[in-house]
Amino acid sequence: GKGTYPFYMLKEIDEQPTVMRKLISTYTDENGKMKVDPDIVKAIQASDRLYIIAAGTSYNAGFGAKAMLEALTNTPVELGVASEWGYDMPLLSKNPFFIFLSQSGETADSRQVLVKVNELSLPSLTVTNVPGSTLSREATYTMLIGAGPEIAVASTKAYTGQIATLAFLAKAVGEAQENPLAFEFDLVKELSLVAQSIEATLSEKEKIAAIVKKNFLTTRNAFYIGRKQDYFVAMEASLKLKEISYVQCEGFAAGELKHGTISLIEKGTPVIALISNNEKVALHTRGNVMETVARGAAAIVIAEEGAARPEDDIVVNAVHPYLSAISMVIPTQLLAYETSFQRGLDVDKPRNLAKAVTVE
Ligand code: F6R
Repeated sequence: GKGTYPFYMLKEIDEQPTVMRKLISTYTDENGKMKVDPDIVKAIQASDRLYIIAAGTSYNAGFGAKAMLEALTNTPVELGVASEWGYDMPLLSKNPFFIFLSQSGETADSRQVLVKVNELSLPSLTVTNVPGSTLSREATYTMLIGAGPEIAVASTKAYTGQIATLAFLAKAVGEAQENPLAFEFDLVKELSLVAQSIEATLSEKEKIAAIVKKNFLTTRNAFYIGRKQDYFVAMEASLKLKEISYVQCEGFAAGELKHGTISLIEKGTPVIALISNNEKVALHTRGNVMETVARGAAAIVIAEEGAARPEDDIVVNAVHPYLSAISMVIPTQLLAYETSFQRGLDVDKPRNLAKAVTVE
């Protein structure tokens, strides 16, 4: 049950530190050594390209993990929207390895790609929250997220859990390849820090509620902007806001806004900038924020410690850059929740939507 929570979504947002800690005990032994199926590691080592196939939030999670997977496994990662990939397979690399990301393990669009992958006798892994689900049964391998049942239609803990699960996979493969980056990446420590960072953000609910009250009660549209990893989080953040609050929102690469879309900015349009601690891009994103403010936008800045300024609206405790999508998404989940809640909507059951999309 949802206990004292008004909605499952808030309960599931709150469970994320626990999900992170549980993943540590699932995928490492008491000495902190990786416990990832060696057959999966070998199959990925034998591959020259990883194809991540998913839909919706799971697709966004794939982007959140892409840079980390590439750095640690030294293998290019390509993302595919499941509903687009079901038609003709694009030109594949010589030794492809498919990773299906699916909370439910039942998404029909993803399954139709897996059917083709199996017809071609190609190896695959499903990362899912549901043991015994269709995508788990039909893929060569499975890794479980173990986030516990996700009841709210809007996916939260599955997104963060998927990225964390892929972190264990990436590190295990990297270690097998003797990639020094993989040994340096102390995942048990870093994921514990992520759990703490999430907890710190969860204690800012009232601040986020106030931001929503001021900027999101009547607006019909909004933008999330960010660069690199922050752009991927912007896509997920905007999906979440749209899905449960019906505010039209676009997640945009911050530098791309000025190439046309900035004409949509009007007086009071909320523009939420995500600025993680990446010195290569942080200043540029700040410049893009100023461009929107000059056109009347109501700018809200969510920044990571290290890149934050005193005037920023929300500061997220710093984590390892590979894992920043997990910690940076938390305030955006709360912002979506609060907007839906304050507008008096059914947060857990948005109109027109089902939890698992089992039609193509
Ligand atoms: C968004 C959401 C959907 C799902 C998508 C894929 O909050 O819930 O976008 O992420 O339908 O579902 P799974 O992960 O079950 O394959």
